[in-house]
Amino acid sequence: MAAVRKAAPGAGSEMGPEYKRAGHVLLHAPSPSKLFGRVPIRHVVLMQMRFDGCLGFPGGFIDAKDGSLEEGLNRELAEELGPGASACYVTENDFISSWVMESPRKIVGHFYAKRLSLGDLEQLEGGAVHAKDHGLEVMGLVRVPLYTLRDGFGGLPAFLCNNFIGSAKEQLLEALGCLGLMPQNKLEEAVRASQK
Ligand code: APR
Ligand code: MG
Ligand code: MG
Repeated sequence: MAAVRKAAPGAGSEMGPEYKRAGHVLLHAPSPSKLFGRVPIRHVVLMQMRFDGCLGFPGGFIDAKDGSLEEGLNRELAEELGPGASACYVTENDFISSWVMESPRKIVGHFYAKRLSLGDLEQLEGGAVHAKDHGLEVMGLVRVPLYTLRDGFGGLPAFLCNNFIGSAKEQLLEALGCLGLMPQNKLEEAVRASQK
């Protein structure tokens, strides 16, 4: 896995031109559904299967011509999610954390999270196949299972065994905890089960 570390909020500009800036977002919505009629889904949390076979969050590199981090992120979202991305316009208030990656490239990643209504999120999922980058940079959106099945591994523990780009796995775990999408003890149990 790539070496990543958490950085101070707003990190990036002071880190020198060798660091490229990136922005990514976790989109989520509450869900009343139950898998098999008994396992609560609780929240829909979106990630994407990327062109490189890794899981990551929608977003990407911020260009010099983007007016701000958030403008660049929203531009990337329009490219990767299609016109429905306008329903999830990301602002400074949605900021969660910054991450620094030293290898294979020097990148400062800025991570955001945004809560949508279930209706808006489902509309966005439906429209994402019409995005410019669909089938190219983005192979498809995926929902993260937040439950653990009776065998103690199926669900989130198995999902965490996938390959994640950059700091995406750390970002996922951080957001699930700090946004209260999963109780901290259940989250820690799932992480332990994924490492067995
Ligand atoms: N999700 C995705 N990427 C992340 C994440 C995350 N949560 N956290 C950090 N990254 C890092 C990755 O190392 C990634 O390569 O940020 C980099 C840029 O993010 P992308 O979403 O891959 O960038 P994008 O602008 O969408 O461009 C796609 O085109 O120029 C190529 O190789 C370049 O990966 C880039 C691709
Ligand atoms: Mg992109
Ligand atoms: Mg991208």
